[in-house]
Amino acid sequence: MKDFLSISDLTPEAYDDILTLAARMKRQRSAGIPHPYLAGKNLGMIFEKASTRTRISFDVGMHELGGYALYLNSKDTQLGRGETVPDTARVMSRFLQGVIMRTYKHETITEFAKYASIPVINALSDKEHPCQIMADSLTLKEKFGELDGLRIAWIGDGNNVANSLIMASVQTGMEIAVSTPKGYEPDQGAVNFAKENGGKVVFYDNPVDAVTDAHAIYTDTWISMGEEDIKDEKLKDFVGYQLNMDLLKKAADDAIVLHCLPAHRGEEITDEVIDSMQSGVWDQAENRLHAQKAVLVRLMNNEL
Ligand code: CP
Ligand code: NVA
Repeated sequence: MKDFLSISDLTPEAYDDILTLAARMKRQRSAGIPHPYLAGKNLGMIFEKASTRTRISFDVGMHELGGYALYLNSKDTQLGRGETVPDTARVMSRFLQGVIMRTYKHETITEFAKYASIPVINALSDKEHPCQIMADSLTLKEKFGELDGLRIAWIGDGNNVANSLIMASVQTGMEIAVSTPKGYEPDQGAVNFAKENGGKVVFYDNPVDAVTDAHAIYTDTWISMGEEDIKDEKLKDFVGYQLNMDLLKKAADDAIVLHCLPAHRGEEITDEVIDSMQSGVWDQAENRLHAQKAVLVRLMNNEL
């Protein structure tokens, strides 16, 4: 595997291997044991959109692996003045040993990867957020021991995070129970990938039916980056899809609440839920670091 652009790039074995390596490096980090598997390597981090977690976790992750991370706001590079994606990919491949990219269009990342001779990692596009789902899988594995057989409810917008989660049903054996308003269903390509490869994805009109018997309830913002101009319209369409205490009570007592963050408290999730004992969101955020370090090592160090 050269790149990590989509959850569908991973075999079940590669998926499991990344989670195992992530858990090992998490233990090493907490025991103060150095693990400089990427000493001397340089990672470019190209961002078209804002980021807190992704940027910090990749930057700190590279530092902890003994490498260097270079933040590149795409507007401040010649990309912002029209230098082509293929030319940029060719040039960056001469300086760097890996690139992460957060873009509006997924095709920008796939085009970059096509012309880059170095590994390229999707750090979020309009279609997918695969690094997020690796971190969430680590979080679920820590809590429940194994992923196979878990039922994860997705409530709200069928967005990039939902698409990656649905695809991950193939490698993990998790069942994804989706409830979105009409017109906001997840990407058909992601659903087809799951269905054609033995993944389990089920759809419910009523969020209550989706959360029933769920081990985790996952939601995300109703207004993703780049959708600010349709905010008013979307807010109206999502009435009834808020993750609040009434909905949480319908799930098992030990079900955990997931949210990739940033949260829009009072919209898709209430304070009471995100701050409850069942909230797994802070572990999820921390696990971005551990899961992504494992992805970086697997793509950028062929000897380990
Ligand atoms: N969850 C996530 O990707 O957060 P950031 O947008 O802060 O990177
Ligand atoms: N769906 C959100 C995720 C943010 C991490 C977005 O694309 O803005």
